[in-house]
Amino acid sequence: MYNFDEPLDRTKSSCEKWDKYKGADVIPAWVADMDFKSPPCVIEALQERVLEGAFGYTAVDDETIDVIISFVKKHYGWEIQKEWLVFTHGVVTSMNIACKAVGGESVLTTTPIYPHFIKAPKNAGQSVIAIPMIEKEHRWTIDFELLERSITSTCKLFMLCNPYNPAGTVLSRVELEKLSSICLKHDLIVCSDEIHADLILTPNLKHIPIASLSEEMAQKSITLMAPSKTFNIAGLQASFAIIPNPKLRASFEKAMGNTVGGVNLLAITATKAAYMYGEPWLEELRVYLKENLSMVEAFVASNPKLKLLHQDATFLAWIDASALHVKSPYAFFLEHGVGLSDGKPFGDENFVRLNFGTTKKLLQEILHRMQNAMDSLQKTL
Ligand SMILES: Cc1ncc(COP(=O)(O)O)c(C=O)c1O
Repeated sequence: MYNFDEPLDRTKSSCEKWDKYKGADVIPAWVADMDFKSPPCVIEALQERVLEGAFGYTAVDDETIDVIISFVKKHYGWEIQKEWLVFTHGVVTSMNIACKAVGGESVLTTTPIYPHFIKAPKNAGQSVIAIPMIEKEHRWTIDFELLERSITSTCKLFMLCNPYNPAGTVLSRVELEKLSSICLKHDLIVCSDEIHADLILTPNLKHIPIASLSEEMAQKSITLMAPSKTFNIAGLQASFAIIPNPKLRASFEKAMGNTVGGVNLLAITATKAAYMYGEPWLEELRVYLKENLSMVEAFVASNPKLKLLHQDATFLAWIDASALHVKSPYAFFLEHGVGLSDGKPFGDENFVRLNFGTTKKLLQEILHRMQNAMDSLQKTL
């Protein structure tokens, strides 16, 4: 049994999430990491590695690669090969590399979306064709018809986020097959960010990498994965791209040039330990996060001016606060002591994103403050 209720003081470790509101009475609930200690197996492996005292240039060893291959096979049923792996120090880095490597004048994606899906194409001098997601059966999904109609001849890349940040959607096999057939028909490469793949909270729902659907799709894909969200080790900066097509992989590596180095040696140690021994911790984490999600759902259900669609994954809740009729819901809740993510850079300023990857005690306080904020609005009416 792991104790996710144990408070972790993050105010002394240059933590981005907590330092943003240093000295203010604001509970941070924004950037996507969790207020939990990483699994003991990771902490112990890092301690051992540090005690070795050897910190020279370090390559990713075969054992770590084998552990990654086994993890991907076991958890997503996808058999990948060693040569398909390209290591980078972050998924955002890989998204930027993918845009450069694939090229094309414009890049397709959907909104709401993690802001780097919009920034990465722009950094590469590309324009973005953003397809708004739609509500279907009380869940966010892709508008496949609009997507297909929006593809232009200068577009070579579709950037997918599955599971979705911030919508919490896990695409079903049927949806992925639809998407795959559209992309193959129009000769698009799919760059699929699957960083949240291990954080599916609905029991028995499985993550399906789009590249695993068919050999044809695999050849047109760049899949981005990482242990960082799963095991709360984002600060260690480990990630890998899986690119089965040798030509596409060569373009990706060329776009990396000498400007993107490999992963940090401690990240290699942490990745190996997490994927090898972190599963019992992860199973309990998912149960805890699911309970937290239920708390957020109950809170939203009791407030008719808020709306949250059904979500299957992530520790991030995408809350529609448009019915509050305040200028900026983000600023409004901040004034009442809760530092949520502003929906604006994700594509809609009427929304806020709540990070519920924290202790139940803190989450209760966050929801309590949000309730007070809304009660204060009632009083002024
Ligand atoms: C969908 C998604 N991709 C990428 C990242 C960041 O990945 P990295 O820290 O490896 O660059 C995040 C972090 O919130 C994310 O939610």
